[in-house]
Amino acid sequence: MRTEPDWKRLAGKFIVFDGLDGCGKTTQLDLLESRIKAGGVPVVRMREPGSTRVGEHIRELLLSSKGDDLTMRTEMLLYMASRAQLVQESLLPALAGGNCVLSDRYTSSTLAYQGAAGGLPEDEILAVARVATQNTDPDLTIILDLPVEKAAARMAVKKPGKNVAQPGLFHDRIEQRRLEYHAAVRQGFLDQVARFPARYIKISAEGVRQAIEKKIAGGVAEFFNLL
Ligand code: TYD
Repeated sequence: MRTEPDWKRLAGKFIVFDGLDGCGKTTQLDLLESRIKAGGVPVVRMREPGSTRVGEHIRELLLSSKGDDLTMRTEMLLYMASRAQLVQESLLPALAGGNCVLSDRYTSSTLAYQGAAGGLPEDEILAVARVATQNTDPDLTIILDLPVEKAAARMAVKKPGKNVAQPGLFHDRIEQRRLEYHAAVRQGFLDQVARFPARYIKISAEGVRQAIEKKIAGGVAEFFNLL
């Protein structure tokens, strides 16, 4: 039995990390990237929306238009447009070149945010995703799961002001709506794990960083049979 997983077998594999804002995806992606690279596999990192020149423009439009008059369908199509560019320009060449691709978010985010929380039908999102991604699905999607209150608390510490409702007369109502929305997003991720157990794993993002890292590395090694 090997002591260290054979990370080399991740060449040409596509792994997505997803979850609520504040779940620690970026830190954990950094840690897994280092491990895989140390194992001798080139890694290409991506984040959504963005990563390409066109995608970064779309990202700006999306993140600056929150609360404006973007309809939910328009929002979904913009996320998908950014994804279409990313798949064609970066993802497919990276996979064909034998890289392991690690992405911060993918179609799983659209299903959770615009679908489960935003109310768009799942079959519509999946139909658009098929076109946008040219049927390129991740080999594995890792959902980092965290109770909404804990994710919100981490966000408040990490990015003061960004996701914190303005104090004032309606503070409690706004805060409550925000928590309900994120609870629906979280449930959207959990439903995907339940429905697609062959392609998703859920990992609790509670606890210390090193322990979560170990669970992720173990989960990936087991999923791809690297031991
Ligand atoms: P970002 O600042 O990158 O958040 P994070 O650091 O948590 O990834 O902003 C991305 C936001 O876009 C995040 O709130 C989730 C949202 N999003 C969607 O609503 N739908 C999508 O399809 C994607 C990819 C992201």
